[in-house]
Amino acid sequence: MAIPIRTEGLARDRHPDGGGFVGRPVVRTNGAGSEAANRIARGPVGPGRDDPRTPGTVYLVGAGPGDPELLTLKAARLLASADACVYDHLVGPDVLSLVNPDAELVYAGKERGHHTLPQPDINTRLVDLARRARVVVRLKGGDPFVFGRGGEEAQALAAAGIPFEIVPGVTAACGVAAAARIPLTHRDHAHTLTFVAGHLRDGTMALDWSALARPGQTVVVYMGLAGLPELCRQLVAHGRAPDTPAAVVQHGTLPTQRVVRATLATLPARVAAEGLKPPTMIVVGEVVSVAESLATLAPAQVLAADP
Ligand SMILES: C[S@@+](CC[C@H](N)C(=O)[O-])C[C@H]1O[C@@H](n2cnc3c(N)ncnc32)[C@H](O)[C@@H]1O
Repeated sequence: MAIPIRTEGLARDRHPDGGGFVGRPVVRTNGAGSEAANRIARGPVGPGRDDPRTPGTVYLVGAGPGDPELLTLKAARLLASADACVYDHLVGPDVLSLVNPDAELVYAGKERGHHTLPQPDINTRLVDLARRARVVVRLKGGDPFVFGRGGEEAQALAAAGIPFEIVPGVTAACGVAAAARIPLTHRDHAHTLTFVAGHLRDGTMALDWSALARPGQTVVVYMGLAGLPELCRQLVAHGRAPDTPAAVVQHGTLPTQRVVRATLATLPARVAAEGLKPPTMIVVGEVVSVAESLATLAPAQVLAADP
């Protein structure tokens, strides 16, 4: 009996400068593909899809933490079939290279303190695009619903009567932790996992320090680099031990990844000395010490044999 084999993934051509992978989504089949597989390849179908009076669909797509191989198959397929793509600054060139070359590309920006398009303008642009394009991809770093304003954009689309779908991505906390070999939970160290946004407002972070300082938990801080000294100071002031392991990971999952592991007492000085730059993720908790025992083995050569 013929077994249907169909894979959809990224063609792995080496980038000319030797870093990362670039490529286009590819489909391979042994000719015995199922209807379900073919539907994935064709993309969404439905009444009115080609009717100009019917708005297109906006897909809020998670691009993952950086490594294009961490995209979902659905994200790769939608990028390849997009008529328009609105993307943030955290989406790297390797992921953007997967977008349909004929698609309209819109840069929405959103670096710290530098929003190329204000959020209301992004919302309006998505609605406008959906009225003249079939497949509109709103491509956001990590997962659209984790510190990504995906909720606000979905609300705007719903209010305007535009069909939309959320395509989850690997959020930076999970991608970065895996790449830095920090298990976010561990039965010996952490039963609670907390994600917080650590941006500063007037030099402080509006966080529940007493809750974050409780032992037996891992705290992962997005957007926290500028406030790192304040973060470490507050956690210690609220009872977390100064020798609690903590790490900062820059450009997690990318060839430029750098990891600094220290303690709450020493991390700010170590990170300043190393000159780490955003995007970075801060991980606080005993799980960081597990990474030391996992760092000794070389990575598995899973990409060595291209199909
Ligand atoms: C506006 S938040 C968006 C988060 C995104 N929606 C997600 O689910 O990962 C951006 C922050 O995510 C973190 N981040 C994203 N990608 C990262 C990476 N590759 N390495 C380290 N931190 C990253 C940084 O803290 C950055 O400031």
